[in-house]
Amino acid sequence: MNEQEIIDVETRFMANVFSKKPVVLTKGKGALVWDIKGKEYIDCSTSYGVALLGHCHPKVVAAIQAQAEQLITCHSCYYNDKRAEFVEKLVHITPKGLDKVFLSNSGAESVECAIKLARKYTGKPEIIALMGAFHGKTMGALSATWDKKYREPFMPLVPEIKHVAPDNADKIREAISEKTGAFLMEPIRGEGGVRVPPEGYLQEVRRICDEKNVLLIFDEVQTSFGRTGKLFGCQNWGVIPDVMCLAKPFAGGLPIGITVAKKNIMSALKVGEHSTTFSGSPLVCAAGCAAIDALVEENLTECASKMGHYFKTELEGIQAKHKIVKEVRGLGLMLGMELRFDVLNVILKTAAKGVLVLDAGRTVVRLLPPLVIQKKQIDRIVTVLDEVLGDEENERARSSTVSN
Ligand SMILES: Cc1ncc(COP(=O)(O)O)c(C=O)c1O
Repeated sequence: MNEQEIIDVETRFMANVFSKKPVVLTKGKGALVWDIKGKEYIDCSTSYGVALLGHCHPKVVAAIQAQAEQLITCHSCYYNDKRAEFVEKLVHITPKGLDKVFLSNSGAESVECAIKLARKYTGKPEIIALMGAFHGKTMGALSATWDKKYREPFMPLVPEIKHVAPDNADKIREAISEKTGAFLMEPIRGEGGVRVPPEGYLQEVRRICDEKNVLLIFDEVQTSFGRTGKLFGCQNWGVIPDVMCLAKPFAGGLPIGITVAKKNIMSALKVGEHSTTFSGSPLVCAAGCAAIDALVEENLTECASKMGHYFKTELEGIQAKHKIVKEVRGLGLMLGMELRFDVLNVILKTAAKGVLVLDAGRTVVRLLPPLVIQKKQIDRIVTVLDEVLGDEENERARSSTVSN
C-alpha cells in the first residue's frame, strides 16, 4: 500500500477515535522514526511515552526474537520462567515495600486494578482523585479522569469517585470522610499539562493518608522508568505510595500494565477476584526483562536527568525570545511548553519540519523524548520549535494588523 492507500484504509475500517496527524510511520531506531517516503523525524512523542529506550532497542528486539521461538503465550494459571524473571527484576527496582505485582495490558487496566484493590482492602468505596487528572478511559479509570470531554458522553460513571483541586493538601484533608478508601494521583500530571506539584505537596499528601488511614495510590504510568530523572517520579520527593500503577515503557514497546502494591494490600485480592487472559505473557515479560536491563545497565535515568536539564534550559531560552510562550515546565525528560493559544498548528508545523511532539490539553506542547536522546538532536528540536513559534508569532501579528 502507498501512503494515501494506508490513510484511506485506516480511515475506512478503524473507529474514528484518534486525533490523526498526516504522517505514516513505518520504521524507528533510537530517537528517530521514518515515514513511508523515508522522511526522518526526531521523535518527542515516543508513542505517548512508550518508547523510552528509543525505538527497536537491540536488547529488546533480541529478547522478543528469542522468546517468540520458545513460547509466546502462557496463561497465568501456569508458571513461566520469563514471567518469574520479570517480576523479580521489577520488584528489585520498585520503591521499598512495593513488592506484589499484578500484570495486565495497559495503563487504564493498571488503574482498574488499583481501584478494585483499594475497595477490597479498605472495605470503603470512595476514591478521591485530582481535578486535571488523567488515568485512562476504561470505565473505572475514566471515572477518576477529570476532563469532561472524556467523561460526559459516558455518564453515569463508577460512583463514589470524586475530584479535588490539585496542589493544595488542605483540599484532600477536607474531602476525606469515613467512606474514603484511597487517594489517587499522578506525581506529575501529564495529560493535564505537565504540571509538577509544589515542593512539600507529596510529603503532605503522604502524611494525610497515613493520619486518616487512606491508601495512597500513585499513577506512575507516565512518570516512571527514568522519565523524570528518577526511576519513579515519586522518588523526586522521597515519597512511597501504598499502590503504584505502571505501564507504557515497561515492556520495551509491547503492551503492558502493572499494578504493584505492598504485600498485605495486594493480598486482599483472592483467587478469581481479578484477572486478565494476557496477564504476564512470556513474550511481553521477555521484552520487559530486556527493557529493565537496558534501563539500568545503560544508566538511562541519569541521562534523563542530564539531558532533561539541558533541554529545559534551551526551552527557557525559547520562552525568553517568544512572547507567545507562557511557561516552560517539567522534570527530567517530561517537559511542557505552555503557549497563549491552541497548539495544534505548532504540532503540525513541527512535524512538517521533522520533529514529532505531543499536546497536553489545548495549549501545552508536550515533549516526551526517549531517554537515549542526544544533545545534537535536542538542539535540532529547539531550532525547529524556535522557527515554528517565530512563524506563528509573525502570522498572528499579521492577522491582528489586518483585522485592525
Ligand atoms: C498517567 C496515566 N495514567 C493512565 C493512562 C492510561 O494508559 P493507557 O492509554 O495505556 O490505558 C495514561 C495514558 O496516557 C496516563 O498518562
